[in-house]
Amino acid sequence: METVVSGIRPTGELHLGNYFGAVANFVQMQNENQCYFFIADYHSLTTHPTPADLHGNVRKVLVNYLAAGLDPDKSVLYIQSDVPEVTELYLLLNMNAYMGELSRCTSFKEKARKQPDNINAGLMTYPTLMAADIILHRAQKVPVGKDQEQHLEMTRTFANRFNRMYNVNFFPEPQAYNFGQALVKIPGLDGSGKMGKSEGEGNAIFFGDSTEMIRKKVMKAVSDGGPTEPFQAKPEAIQNLFGLMKVVSDSETLNFFDEEYNQCRIRYGDMKKQLALDIDRFVAPFREKMIELNSNNDYLRKVVNSGAEKARESAAATIREVRSIIGFRAF
Ligand code: TYM
Repeated sequence: METVVSGIRPTGELHLGNYFGAVANFVQMQNENQCYFFIADYHSLTTHPTPADLHGNVRKVLVNYLAAGLDPDKSVLYIQSDVPEVTELYLLLNMNAYMGELSRCTSFKEKARKQPDNINAGLMTYPTLMAADIILHRAQKVPVGKDQEQHLEMTRTFANRFNRMYNVNFFPEPQAYNFGQALVKIPGLDGSGKMGKSEGEGNAIFFGDSTEMIRKKVMKAVSDGGPTEPFQAKPEAIQNLFGLMKVVSDSETLNFFDEEYNQCRIRYGDMKKQLALDIDRFVAPFREKMIELNSNNDYLRKVVNSGAEKARESAAATIREVRSIIGFRAF
């Protein structure tokens, strides 16, 4: 049995990218592994320092996770800030993390570009906090989307460096993982690369979206005038539509529209109608479960309290060892 850790920032509801990138696999993995899944509320402060409703955002992601099928009897589901041990490990890792490597990190550079007035130390040390999340439970596997690959590489660097510096073999080398498949990047609806909550209106489909919202977003998705030659290469926006169809529709439907495209007969209106129907069919059961969960505060409280207790137990064991390895001793 291996240990698995993964997290999501509470800056909006779960979207299909989060689901297929990280959560879908986790739901399968929880039967065979010791899994820890958490809500990265400390991380969210690096980009949203004064959130209007932090608690509400955390609650939303919690409900999303449970609706997606995370079973708190099998997995440990907790809130990052309920486990203060993570901050101690973060501090200790920061002592051996270098400005050069942190400032070269792609997502740091991207975020620094997006928020030039708030290039804070938390943003720069985002990868050490993420490494702390993961190695706090001495995880081997981390289900994530493709965009987190570099963060995982840095986690390995920090874990290996700790082992080397203190001459121990304590932290395993965690690997990015997507249950039996390559890491994925789910495209958005705006014609550019990636589905994301901060990519602008209409780009992402969220778990809570109504049938009507889904229809509207999909019908507005960027497409083009259609191919002019058989078997023409698909431009990015069209590839995105097919990419989404690949994850929510059956293979017959996908093959049908692929063939229509290849024979220059495709009608994007028809394809989008079908895609909207299939997304809605996919999201509907999650939506239903969310209504039920939202009205059950006692259950949610029980889940996070028991998650925090189990996560702290595992975290405290690691911290005890780390302290002893570095040389902190009681008088
Ligand atoms: P976050 O909150 O941006 O996204 C959560 C998870 O969803 C994946 N994801 C996607 N996967 C495929 N296609 C997409 N379009 C897409 N959009 C998002 C992300 O790869 C991620 O797996 N740094 C992390 C949160 C984090 C974490 C951790 C993850 C903090 N500590 C420890 C794993 C382990 C983040 O910002 O994810």
